[in-house]
Amino acid sequence: MELRGTVVVVTGAAGGIGAAMARRFAAEGVAGMVLADLDRDAASALAREIDPARVTGVGCDVTDAGEVAGLVALARDTYGPVDLFCSNAGITTGTGLDTDDATWQRAWAVNVHAHVLAARAVLPSMLERGSGYLLQTCSAAGLLTAVGDAPYAVTKHAAVGFAEWLAMTYGDRGIKVSALCPQGVRTPMLTEGLARGHTAARVTVAAGPVLTPEQVADAVVAGLAAERFLILPHPEVAGYARRKAEDPDRWLGGMRKLIATIEAG
Ligand SMILES: NC(=O)c1ccc[n+]([C@@H]2O[C@H](COP(=O)([O-])OP(=O)(O)OC[C@H]3O[C@@H](n4cnc5c(N)ncnc54)[C@H](O)[C@@H]3O)[C@@H](O)[C@H]2O)c1
Repeated sequence: MELRGTVVVVTGAAGGIGAAMARRFAAEGVAGMVLADLDRDAASALAREIDPARVTGVGCDVTDAGEVAGLVALARDTYGPVDLFCSNAGITTGTGLDTDDATWQRAWAVNVHAHVLAARAVLPSMLERGSGYLLQTCSAAGLLTAVGDAPYAVTKHAAVGFAEWLAMTYGDRGIKVSALCPQGVRTPMLTEGLARGHTAARVTVAAGPVLTPEQVADAVVAGLAAERFLILPHPEVAGYARRKAEDPDRWLGGMRKLIATIEAG
């Protein structure tokens, strides 16, 4: 996909990976972009900083169907039909079996159902035009796991499953789909998890290199250009996923050892 001249929506765009993608997409020459986040002020400030002539920042809760449909309408009315929808907002919980039902529901709503709402809102116009691109920010946790965060591990697997389903169902009708699956990235999500002592954040840092959001944005632009389904800013994740698929029992044993090491340290 050539980003120059396209119309883009990015959710969870106020900071971290979303903001880095927004800056990079602007540098690639997009024609118009809507940046959406729960934090409306930060999304608006980023839009003004990037280029108010072609970027709009708005408040949006991605779990609200009407608000997500509103993003697609705003982008269309301001810049033209959406070419690329980046469903990027996501949350961690840092909790296990003790997770209460409201937290499970919120994780499902933000990490999974928001992708469904986005596809429902934007796919009809893409199918009508016979082209469009959906980028779903999932996680390496959706291919491997998230130690110490049951809702994150489970919902990110579901997010990868939905992205695969979209790709196989609509791929022959001009719709491209990519699942972005980074491991550790230095964003507020990770640094706040570390500050709270979340095991998941500590394991993420111990498990491999922590990339900058800008490095992830580079990987996204390369992955979109290649129209690759799986975008892995940490390429080693492919090897971990292969080994997990080849021998799940051995992989689980390795994970138990990792947990014991983290808990001892
Ligand atoms: N940081 C990492 O190590 C890492 C690794 C793999 C995947 N990811 C994924 O990358 C995506 C971006 O995360 P990040 O690391 O940049 O985190 P972040 O917390 O810095 O950014 C997430 C943004 O999403 C917004 N958001 C949360 N809930 C929302 C909602 N209901 N509606 C609208 N916006 C909402 C937040 O306000 C925030 O600005 C997430 O899906 C996350 O799961 C992050």
